[in-house]
Amino acid sequence: MPSFVGAIDNGTTSSRFLIFDENGNLVIGHQLEYRQIFSQSGWVEQDPMDILGSVISCIEGALRKFKLQGNDARNLKGIGITNQRETTVVWDRNTGKPLHNAIVWSDTRTQDIVKKLAGPDEGGADALRDICGLPITTYFSAVKLRWLLENSTEVKEAHDNGSLMFGTVDSWLIYNLTGGKEGGVHVTDVTNASRTMLMDIKTLQWSDRCLDFFGIKAEILPEIKPSSTLFGKMNHVELNEIKDVPIAGCLGDQHAALVGQHCFQAGEAKNTYGTGCFMVFNTGTEPIPSKNGLLTTVGYQFEGEPAVYALEGSIAVAGSAVKWLRDSMGVIKSAEDINGLAESVKDNGGVVFVTAFSGLFAPYWRPDVRGCILGISQHTTKGHLARATLEATCFQTRAILDAMNADSGKPLKLLRVDGGLSNSDICMQMQADILGIDVVRPQMRESTALGAATAAAIYLGIGIWEGGFKAFAERSRNSTESLQTFAPEVSEKARDDQYSLWQRAIEKCLSWDV
Ligand code: G3P
Repeated sequence: MPSFVGAIDNGTTSSRFLIFDENGNLVIGHQLEYRQIFSQSGWVEQDPMDILGSVISCIEGALRKFKLQGNDARNLKGIGITNQRETTVVWDRNTGKPLHNAIVWSDTRTQDIVKKLAGPDEGGADALRDICGLPITTYFSAVKLRWLLENSTEVKEAHDNGSLMFGTVDSWLIYNLTGGKEGGVHVTDVTNASRTMLMDIKTLQWSDRCLDFFGIKAEILPEIKPSSTLFGKMNHVELNEIKDVPIAGCLGDQHAALVGQHCFQAGEAKNTYGTGCFMVFNTGTEPIPSKNGLLTTVGYQFEGEPAVYALEGSIAVAGSAVKWLRDSMGVIKSAEDINGLAESVKDNGGVVFVTAFSGLFAPYWRPDVRGCILGISQHTTKGHLARATLEATCFQTRAILDAMNADSGKPLKLLRVDGGLSNSDICMQMQADILGIDVVRPQMRESTALGAATAAAIYLGIGIWEGGFKAFAERSRNSTESLQTFAPEVSEKARDDQYSLWQRAIEKCLSWDV
């Protein structure tokens, strides 16, 4: 009997369920976008029931197609989960129902709370960095949870009377998929926990100091587990045909992509171009503090193995800028149209677009700034704007790479890429030109889902993943997987001239706060 592994992938704007065979080949999948709620400028919310509903529909849709191919759902031996990180969900222990919309990672409503918490009397933005690896900013879950406690009476009461449950999206999904209020488990993994600002990244346990700092009770938190272990068994009324299938993998999406891209050696890095864009650099079994505006985070942890750490450079806006050109500006009809438009001009015509829609993340960390487009003239066309939009992510990636090289002391020689925008040849060529190193793209670009499936399959010992993590990591090192390389094609002088334009635009943008 063949075995298959499923991956639930909840991204910021869509969910999908993908099924891999025992050789790691993608067999089938189903994807659905779900509702984003933008009720005020800077606010981004999602209904936790929409997130759950979209995941259930994706599983149903993929299983339907899977069976039409002649497969049997009983051969699905395990499931891994990967998810948008930091997005904060709160629900009631007695009813199992959400107490508020989820506050999404890119939401910047907590600016005032951040100003207070990161004030000089509290120790500044880096007050907790030695424990959790992160600066105090609007991005992370604990700050969002603090906002909920200060602004929702229901959440505050539930916190005080012990009925509140908090989780990132992985916890919310696993709780519901394993039975909800009828015995659902309240768990998370080390990677998702490392994005809350509440976990001590060395002990991999919730930190009393961080909990005290934010005024949060430990009882509301999920249990922290490795990324590859038994989290629970499927038990959802709408998914009876896969009842009891073990959920054996769970990682935040950027960490899952690190695994899916087989970056198992210290010094290897990947960049995932999704709604945002995130470069993650494996630093081995010791956390490395950043002196250059990066985050120290847990890369992954396989059961029985030490945790592997990473440095991360996060960009808040990447694919979402393309979406903005399509949905708000009407510059393009479909996301793919940006490529043809960008190719219609030979360069950016002097236009630079800093896409700081929700402030600037790494390495600048300025939640208060907003985007700007500079260098517009009578001759500027939609083509120049399209090009400048793609370049924005590539330039910020360059700033992050410079910071990473400075922090690690070992300049990166090649960058592995995946995610939606990595499908764009023109964007990946720009990226290689701007970085001055090879950009390497795998054939199968669903690295995030593959990483979650890998975590589950290694725990369960399925197919090519048989024999445990170390054996798999060794095999993947010697694999002859087909990769496409984009090599830099511009001179160093041209690269530096372009980049200095970006640096000047950043200076302007940083002085334009709101
Ligand atoms: O930290 C946020 C990140 O996990 C979101 O990922 O793929 O939805 O841009 P993505």
